[in-house]
Amino acid sequence: MNRFKLLPLYCLIAAFSVADGQQLTVAQKVDALMKKMTLAEKIGQLNQVNGDWAATGPITTDVGDKLEQIRKGQIGSVLNITGVAHTRAFQDAAMQSRLKIPLLFGQDVIHGYSITFPIPLGEAASWDIAAIERSARIAGTEAAAGGVHWTFAPMVDIARDPRWGRVMEGAGEDPYLGSQIARARVKGFQGNGFGSLDAIMACAKHYAAYGAAIGGRDYNSVDMSLHTLWEFYLPPFKAAAEAGAATFMNSFNSLNGTPASASSYLQRDILKGKWGFKGFVVSDWNSIGEMVQQGYAKDNDQAAEFAIKAGNDMDMESRSYINNLEKLVAAGKVPVKLIGEAVRRILTKKFEMGLFDDPYRYSNADREKSVLNKPEFIAAARDMARKSIVLLKNQGQVLPLSKNLNRIALIGPLVKAKKEMKGFWSLDIGDEGKIVSLYEGMQQAAGKTQLLYAKGCDITDTSRTGFDEAFKTAMQADEVVMAMGERPDMTGEAKSRANIHLPGVQEELIQKIMATGKPVVVLLMSGRPMVFNWTADHVPAILYTWWLGNEAGNAIADVLYGNYNPSGKLPITFPRTEGQIPIYYNHYNTGRPPQNDSDVNYTSAYIDLPNSPKFAFGYGLSYTAFKYSNLKLSGKSLQSNGAIIVSFDLTNTGKYAGEEVAQLYLRQLISQPVRPVKELKDFQKIMLQPGETKTLTFTIDKEKLSFYNDQLQWGTQPGEFNLMIGSASDDIRLQDGFELL
Ligand code: NOJ
Repeated sequence: MNRFKLLPLYCLIAAFSVADGQQLTVAQKVDALMKKMTLAEKIGQLNQVNGDWAATGPITTDVGDKLEQIRKGQIGSVLNITGVAHTRAFQDAAMQSRLKIPLLFGQDVIHGYSITFPIPLGEAASWDIAAIERSARIAGTEAAAGGVHWTFAPMVDIARDPRWGRVMEGAGEDPYLGSQIARARVKGFQGNGFGSLDAIMACAKHYAAYGAAIGGRDYNSVDMSLHTLWEFYLPPFKAAAEAGAATFMNSFNSLNGTPASASSYLQRDILKGKWGFKGFVVSDWNSIGEMVQQGYAKDNDQAAEFAIKAGNDMDMESRSYINNLEKLVAAGKVPVKLIGEAVRRILTKKFEMGLFDDPYRYSNADREKSVLNKPEFIAAARDMARKSIVLLKNQGQVLPLSKNLNRIALIGPLVKAKKEMKGFWSLDIGDEGKIVSLYEGMQQAAGKTQLLYAKGCDITDTSRTGFDEAFKTAMQADEVVMAMGERPDMTGEAKSRANIHLPGVQEELIQKIMATGKPVVVLLMSGRPMVFNWTADHVPAILYTWWLGNEAGNAIADVLYGNYNPSGKLPITFPRTEGQIPIYYNHYNTGRPPQNDSDVNYTSAYIDLPNSPKFAFGYGLSYTAFKYSNLKLSGKSLQSNGAIIVSFDLTNTGKYAGEEVAQLYLRQLISQPVRPVKELKDFQKIMLQPGETKTLTFTIDKEKLSFYNDQLQWGTQPGEFNLMIGSASDDIRLQDGFELL
């Protein structure tokens, strides 16, 4: 009997990968397959369409029958599709196509799949690289069990503008911290590599400079010097490429007049050339088509030509490739070789993912059931959430709460919120009932303390009718905890705000409750830095809690009661008001720097506002206190291939065990071009028991001293450096200097 008769159809595909009993390399398998493909089938592989669930962008064309298009080999990948049953149904259609090339299923798994973790900006506040990697690992494991091959994450865009709604998706403003986190997230998603069934492909996005959209308005153009691009915006992308990210997504913005999807400089010269990236580049949603509105291409036909020539391999949702590439090749406008190169990159990933061995390998119903929502994943989500919280203020040690209080009043529009805790870019997969609200978390933790509740007001609505009841409720309590913030859909894609103040009448409600004279703790929930000056100046205790995901309520209660001592540090600067934006710590010096916040005598300052931010990059308190002492440098000078070992003592001088993030900043005093006033170059997160001292060391070497010169070459320049070690970018505790010879 023909042995193939007993095998499912897709195994026939696997059969061509074995010649004379010999295992072919992936490259040979791709070659063999490509020889069988028509040009139309090749172009089909470059075409990615939305599934028939949620759309994460505008559907621009009449899409027709997608399953039929898959059967005809016109679609290579589908996005916005999850779940074993659903992915199987689509893969079935691919298995009916002539060459049975499996589909790739992509999904925005941004901060968790079934179990939602804190938003990426929140996780970044943990400065805990191992925990961030674990979070991505769990998201990848769950997503892979749910049929997903590929996440459109991590977003590694540097963001200096909190008006931009997408700050929530990244790691904040710093290239060093951003690069560490980019690496961790890529490694987390891709796990042990694509042989493993729990690994999904990562996608570093949005390449490039999307975070610098002018005015913080989403999709806006970007105008930036190449020096700034290389110095601040590209490093996390480079780190993601080095960590082996399987894919990159380009961006909606034009960069210095060229749409990113049409940028050969970004995609061919830098990414595939200089960095040797072997994966493939997907466009953003219709970013190829949008070249027409941007005034770069006269129609989708020309947009397709520009994109493929620039090295954009896969077209997400614009259909410019499927509709135009064949005729562009026939007209001699697009070399057929370029199509081959793009297909090769995509097929390579499909082979590496094992999809030709078994196109359904990610779509196993038993695995889906057994892997999702494991208790250890939930415990990790709680831990990540606690680590992400930043203590902004704790005057008079209002926190942690005593376990002996008679009554606590919980007040505010977000006290009982549940699904809101997931924040933007979360999936409707897990059980909503399992999300822990603040109220529920406090019920678990409060013991004998009675919890009182009043909503007080809405998030954006300006009605004050609930104020009196909230006041009365607060009056009955020993302490008040207020849960305030934005709606989760006020950050995310297309969620830019010109006004980033705490919305509605919430700050008025805080004033009203403060008038009770009770000790008040304010929790601020948001996906961006907000402006809340009155609160910051008057309320004794403030925790910034972002959107913390499924375990939000438990994690916040852990921190409120001191079962977890807060250790988060801001990964992005908090402005005093919108007029300071863009504001970031690693700026260049001017010729007229003010001596202090009130020095406006012909200095580079505002006459109506200090230059300093409300809360600086790297800032965050603990229930305990840390002393930095005994700074030692192994030398006061080094050659460019040498090193200086820096050591210092860190002591926990308070009553609680706690973690500190000790931060190392450098400044090269004189160089051409100039260097920032301070640059984070290293950090360590250390746990210390009360009274304990540990000696920490950092190594200063060439890598930490190098920068891009005005020819964009990476290297060092001799000169003097300031070395600063501290608890925040504006709280430097130890300083010294050294010279690079
Ligand atoms: C547009 C967003 O910019 C991108 O980040 C996302 O991955 C795609 N839509 C797909 O949802």
